[in-house]
Parts: sequence; C-alpha cells; structure tokens
Amino acid sequence: MNVLVTGGAGYIGSACVQELIEQNHTVTVFDNLSEGHRAAVHPAANFVEGCLNQAEQSKDVVGRAAPEVVIHFAASALVEESMKVPGKYFGNNVANGLNLLNACVQAQVRKIVFSSTCATYGIPDRIPISEDTPQQPINPYGESKLIFEKMLRWFHEIHGLQYVAFRYFNACGATDRFGEHHRIETHLIPNVLKVALKQQTSCKIFGTDYPTTDGTCVRDYIHIKDLATAHILASQSNLNGCYNLGTGKGYSVREVIAACELLTGAKIAVEEHDRRPGDPPKLVAAPSQAINALNWHPEFIAIERIVDTAWQWHKAHPNGYPH
Ligand code: UFG
Repeated sequence: MNVLVTGGAGYIGSACVQELIEQNHTVTVFDNLSEGHRAAVHPAANFVEGCLNQAEQSKDVVGRAAPEVVIHFAASALVEESMKVPGKYFGNNVANGLNLLNACVQAQVRKIVFSSTCATYGIPDRIPISEDTPQQPINPYGESKLIFEKMLRWFHEIHGLQYVAFRYFNACGATDRFGEHHRIETHLIPNVLKVALKQQTSCKIFGTDYPTTDGTCVRDYIHIKDLATAHILASQSNLNGCYNLGTGKGYSVREVIAACELLTGAKIAVEEHDRRPGDPPKLVAAPSQAINALNWHPEFIAIERIVDTAWQWHKAHPNGYPH
C-alpha cells in the first residue's frame, strides 16, 4: 500500500510507520514537529514537514503523495491542557482535521484510519466498555475527537471515503527503535521510569481513594506495536466504523508501579496526591469487536512485558530524542 501518515513523527505514529515499512509499504509522513521529533521519523519514510492548518498545503501534500490510505494521528492529546485551552483542541483536532478530510476527498483517497480515544465515552456506566456505550465526553479533548468521528461518518456517507476510527485506551510501551518522549510528560509509565533512571526522586499517585481494589485508578494499557498492527489491518480491510483498541485487562496505578519496580530492580518512591481532575476511576475496554472484525490479536497483555519494552527504550534513550 501507499500510505500517508499524519503525526508520523509522534509516539504512536512512529511505531506505526515502522511496522508499515517493515511490511514493505510505501510511507509519507506529514508532521509539523510540534509534538513529534525529526529523529522519530523512520529513515525509509518520505518526510514532509508541514501543518494541517494550511488547507492548500494539505491538499498539495496529499495530492502529491496520492495515498490509497491516510492514517491520521496528528492531534493535541492532553486532557488537562484541553480544560485550559479548548480552542487549541477544536482547532487542531477538528478544524485542521477537516482540512485533511477535504484533501482526502480531492485526492480520491480510499480510506482513512483515525486515532480516536476512550475519552469520547466520558465516565462510562459499565465496565468493560463496549462500542455502544453512550459517548458523553467530559473534556474538550474527548469532545474534539468525537466531533471528528461524526465528520468521518458523513464523509463516508456522502463522499464514499471509507473510515475506521480506533478508540484507544492507554497507549504505552516502545518498539526496538521508537518510544515515548513528550515535551510535557504527564503519563504514568514514563514518569515512573524516570525515578528508576534517577532523573526524579519520586513519582506521584493521583488519588488513593477511588472505588477500586487498591484505591488507585485502573486503566487498560495497550502496546503501541499492537496499535500499529490494528491500523495496518484496518487499512487493508473494507471495514467502516468505530472500534475500541485495548486488551480488556485493567491494571491499577499501584500495580503499574510494582511492575516497574520488578522490571527495573529500582525502589520507586511514591508521593500520594489528591485525585487529578477529570480522571475516571476505571477504564477497561471490551475489545472483542476489533479482535473479531480485524482478526487482531494484541500480543502484549501482561503489564510486565509492556513495561519491559518501555524500560529498554528509556535506558537506551535516557534523554529521549535528540531534538
Ligand atoms: N497517574 C499518576 N501519576 C502520574 C501520572 C498518571 O498517578 O504521574 C495516574 C492518572 O491519574 C491515571 C493513570 O495514572 O489514573 C493513567 O494516567 P495517564 O496520564 O498515563 O493516562 P490517562 O489515563 O490520563 O490518559 C489516557 C490517554 C489520553 C486519553 C485518556 C482517556 O493518554 O489521551 O487516557 O481517559 F484521553
């Protein structure tokens, strides 16, 4: 396949590009490097630096690349930030996304695969979360992704653009080349590993009084290699629709920290803090629809295996990417 990947210099995008290239597909990465890193662009991919806020440039890039499939990762993705600057989220995730959709129609792209999020569900009334759970986002980030899902459905109906939207749970882990380096790091696993690397003296636990087995939040951690595989299977399929991507297994914050201690051999000091605003107590996917529709089988289920891949990457890149 000939594939254009927006956000291909980012955390999940870089892993997907690696997998595409290892499967001998042709890849163009389109990224403005605001969150992504030049060094995270696979050397075998064509790279175009640019921003989806430029409608004409976006049309030009998609037209020249003439991809069969576009995989759309480029987005702003911090829940807390979205509660402070919603305009950034509706601008990047909705308005810029619309430029991409218009460019796809003009270039007669067959299919778009979109990174959506379990944050579109808000606080679900049932666990595990299946795709028919009502979508009631509790922050602008989740809302912006939900709006894009709705635009996809209309572009499919009216223009015949095929689409798969994947609602990720907690993306984590690393490949042998690419890992997690956010300029502002808010995620649990990289912050815990910073303590193991002695870059921080302790890590924070946000909330110890949740209605869970040990009082800390439970999340479904899905490895970026498994996410990548799902995107490629979706690109090759004729499916249309929205699918959860998770393992179906939940781990508490304390369980993740314990796994990091086991894997790294380091003692992880913790500071217990109040709850972080906007954190639902428990988010675990019912992943059977993606498994059945795509014949997708997540390989990394045990948290120790997931953390091990992240640990190998962080040890090899203690300061992340060079620029
Ligand atoms: N946590 C800590 N300490 C930290 C960081 C996180 O205790 O230093 C806790 C959080 O409170 C949460 C859990 O660890 O309970 C996981 O937090 P992350 O920040 O790693 O991930 P989130 O679950 O907040 O976010 C993820 C994705 C978002 C998505 C969201 C859906 O990163 O894109 O799930 O709720 F929107």
